[in-house]
Amino acid sequence: MELLEAMKNRRSIRAFKAEAVPQEVITQILEAARWSPSWGNTQPWELVVVRGEMVRKLTGEMVAAFQQRMAANPDVGMPGSFPDVYKERYMACAAGLFGKMGVARDDKARRMAHMVSMTAGFGAPAIIYVIFNADLTEPYSMFDLGAITHGICLATHNLGLGTCILAQLALYPDIIRRHLNLTPSHRIVVGIALGYPDLANPANAFRTERESLEKFVKWVE
Ligand SMILES: Cc1cc2nc3c(=O)[nH]c(=O)nc-3n(C[C@H](O)[C@H](O)[C@H](O)COP(=O)(O)O)c2cc1C
Repeated sequence: MELLEAMKNRRSIRAFKAEAVPQEVITQILEAARWSPSWGNTQPWELVVVRGEMVRKLTGEMVAAFQQRMAANPDVGMPGSFPDVYKERYMACAAGLFGKMGVARDDKARRMAHMVSMTAGFGAPAIIYVIFNADLTEPYSMFDLGAITHGICLATHNLGLGTCILAQLALYPDIIRRHLNLTPSHRIVVGIALGYPDLANPANAFRTERESLEKFVKWVE
């Protein structure tokens, strides 16, 4: 796939086929993404690729915690509030997705079911956890983690698979650390759900909008 085209038509995938993703395919994705830029080439990322039975075990426990309304304690705090302009975009994103899925505003049961499905990585057969070490306190390291995350999403899309970056998959870091044998200094930013898109699912027909260049680019000569 041509790069510019891939960048323009990648979108978050929120329903996956059960079909497993071979390790070699994920290796190919990561071999490309490891060339992502970072501050002074510090490469402040660590990745844990979860596949097979462990996806079911891990997400099963997280779903149980979520359904029991266990207090979340993500390593990277969930945003509290956004200034209005950003909040409007965020709300439009949720409304657009639920609209495509045919979920009404007041349909609490289906909204909850969607959150549960999100906590399970939307049925993806693989999850890549994006992790940094607690020693890394520089804001630029977080910027760098975003770069490799986008690299993973683009490389995956290029191979005809899909991803969804999910803060929801990082709600219960202690459960994740326990299952994945990580230490308390492993800080989890997001999980990237990865697999073959189920294109028949209405959630995957949703496409977010973007502001035009005039809205956010200033040209100076
Ligand atoms: C840091 C981060 C966290 C995200 N967390 C979630 C999430 O928990 N649930 C979800 O459905 N999408 C999540 N997303 C996906 C965004 O909603 C999505 O990227 C955005 O709406 C733009 O849509 P697109 O990816 O289809 O272009 C997250 C994206 C980022 C970058």
